[in-house]
Amino acid sequence: MRIVVLGLGYLGATHAACMAEMGHEVLGVEVIPEKRAQLAAGEVPFYEPGLPELLKRHIDGGSLKVCGSYAEAADFGDVFFIAVGTPQKKGEYSADLKYVDAAIEELIPLLSRDVLILGKSTVPVGTTQRLSERVDELAKDVEIELAWNPEFLREGFAVEDTLHPDRVVLGAFSGGQAELICREVYAPILEAGTPFIVTDPPTAELVKTSANAFLATKISFINAIAEVCDAAGADVKAIADAIGYDARIGRRFLNAGLGFGGGCLPKDIRAFMARAGELGAAEALSFLREVDNVNMRRRTRMVELTREVCGGSLLGKRIAILGAAFKPESDDVRDSPALNVAGQIQLQGASVTVYDPKAMDNSRKLFPTLDYAESAETACDSADVVLVLTEWREFVALNPTKLAAEVRQKNIIDGRLCLDEREWVSAGWNYAS
Ligand code: UDX
Repeated sequence: MRIVVLGLGYLGATHAACMAEMGHEVLGVEVIPEKRAQLAAGEVPFYEPGLPELLKRHIDGGSLKVCGSYAEAADFGDVFFIAVGTPQKKGEYSADLKYVDAAIEELIPLLSRDVLILGKSTVPVGTTQRLSERVDELAKDVEIELAWNPEFLREGFAVEDTLHPDRVVLGAFSGGQAELICREVYAPILEAGTPFIVTDPPTAELVKTSANAFLATKISFINAIAEVCDAAGADVKAIADAIGYDARIGRRFLNAGLGFGGGCLPKDIRAFMARAGELGAAEALSFLREVDNVNMRRRTRMVELTREVCGGSLLGKRIAILGAAFKPESDDVRDSPALNVAGQIQLQGASVTVYDPKAMDNSRKLFPTLDYAESAETACDSADVVLVLTEWREFVALNPTKLAAEVRQKNIIDGRLCLDEREWVSAGWNYAS
């Protein structure tokens, strides 16, 4: 099939390359010229394992092309995916739909034959209905069907999650062709037995927001238990292991620590609360405010803990921060808990040096006043405290005896419960978490 993907960020670039991998002819549309030039040359402008190889192969083979023109895309495609961003509005909880709206406003008047448009971006419930009405107003003598087909990919596993998803969800209005066309688009995935849930648009929109709200709740749940463990002198990791054996609970997403960040979970739970409020159902999601609060408290608690380890004041202390990305296997620093902590510690008078295996450039852009080192060892040079805030394998594998030679004081704070406490303690370090 001839497929167009509108927006080539983390989601769109991955989706476009994976559509080509599934045997389709794909045209990706990216409006930012620098990003477009990089992608057209087969380079991925962000870190995502496995994606550069896939993208290059299909760009070189000609099954994936990149352009900046909606008119070219309108001529090309049978199926259009909307994969543009839906960030949080400035100073508000709700999602900013200006990019989704702009994609519809620009594309529809250019279409001269019947097509299917599938939304992938995470949107508030009711968006497909609203956009569909606008599509009908803008369409010129053509039948255009709009349906929602949310994406559940995780950064760091985006290719794997797109090619082998847990499920495919489609929210379509009755009487259309969306299900039939989707069966063709996703044929290799569906033939492999992947569950295919066909429902109406509001349900599909809510599947996505509910999934993210549940994951955020799970993380904040274990972090709330961690607060009680701190007070009671108990071990939250052992609790997560023990309750995780119960199949109804499950061990995944029960890692206590610095909490969640990134471009999805924080903004999605806020947009979900805002939308529930608009619908008169604010009370139903009031617990998400607490989920957000517990999560944000982790960051302040980490700063407090660092101050305690420094003997009560951060003034004049040298702090090494290992990890800047919001999670390992990503260079994404959007709402990164690690960088947030680094910034707060610096504001309290410490000198902060950050190292991350992949997120250095993005971190420098967001926090230009922090110091950056080229390796974990140099970041730790003369440090009073070392903080591990993203659980990169490189940090998990650090040798405490060797690192001891770099620092001024052997204080380690494990912000992700990813280090072997005994190993660090037996190498003479004061371990806190
Ligand atoms: C998330 C969802 O997982 C994905 O399905 C959705 O499509 C987009 O949002 P992503 O933002 O890539 O994906 O990251 P994820 O792996 O979910 O991690 C989110 C945050 O939670 C990270 O900051 C991570 O460090 C944190 N986390 C995760 C924990 O603190 N504890 C855990 O146990 C798991």
